[in-house]
Amino acid sequence: MKASAPGKVILFGEHAVVYGHPALAIPVTQVHVDVEVLDSSRRGIWIHAPGINLDAELNSLPDGHPVGSVILNFFQRQGIPVPALDIAIESTIPVAAGLGSGAAVSVALVRALALHTANPLSDEQVNEFAYEIEKLHHGTPSGIDNTVITYAKPVYFVKDMPAITFKAGKPFTIVIGDTGIPAPTKESVGSVRRLRMHDQCAVENIFNEIEQITLIGRRSIESGKPELLGELMDQNHEFLQALTVSSPELDNLVKTARKAGALGAKLSGGGRGGNMIALVEQPKAQAVAGALISAGAKHTIITEVS
Ligand code: MEV
Repeated sequence: MKASAPGKVILFGEHAVVYGHPALAIPVTQVHVDVEVLDSSRRGIWIHAPGINLDAELNSLPDGHPVGSVILNFFQRQGIPVPALDIAIESTIPVAAGLGSGAAVSVALVRALALHTANPLSDEQVNEFAYEIEKLHHGTPSGIDNTVITYAKPVYFVKDMPAITFKAGKPFTIVIGDTGIPAPTKESVGSVRRLRMHDQCAVENIFNEIEQITLIGRRSIESGKPELLGELMDQNHEFLQALTVSSPELDNLVKTARKAGALGAKLSGGGRGGNMIALVEQPKAQAVAGALISAGAKHTIITEVS
């Protein structure tokens, strides 16, 4: 049985979302994780994931291995004996780049296991399962990554609340630029936590400003005025800089995108490395992507939100 899950980017509200403020995220279908589960003629569960150099039997994986923990948790929760399986995992989502690669592996893998063992799971159950796995690996995730990836639709997300999917009143184009610098979300989330412990009032003020940006962003998207998002992205980027989660490389790509004609740009996800996003008029998308590559981006993706 096969299952897939897309990548994601956060449009507005990263970091603030960890503390109960809203955020907006969209799926990125140009990158994805594909999982195939087959009965095996050998004993045990064999995992083949050439992208992360993994070709091993489940029991040989270290405790807490991200793939191993999804499989073990699935069989424990379903209360069914562990069968003999071959599991192939292929991913085009870069790891630790803010594109949700971990959550996408969890979602695609649990869906493929559920299909193969004829234990169907609802989207809510898949989402809840993937969130439990995120918590094992990321400390205090908000749950936005697993949510947008499970539903594969734009979401307005508030921690511990049912996800609200939304539609764009008018399509718009985003260029994503990858610094190529791996940046585990856990670390930048930890830095923001320390900053907040040091000066809670200042950090909460920033979160409140980000919340306003997110709310206006959602209204602009739904009411068919996506061109307003450019200015909001610029403002959100400044607040993320104030939270210390940008980096010279991200700032450079953000500036480059604006100079090349983007309507606005910001880092996306945990920051410090990983990806940035830029809002562009569709005909300028290729030029902005080219400028990002010339400025040092390792990859770009052009995606349309419709
Ligand atoms: C990660 O994609 C977004 C952060 O807000 C962390 C989280 O929400 O769990 C940085």
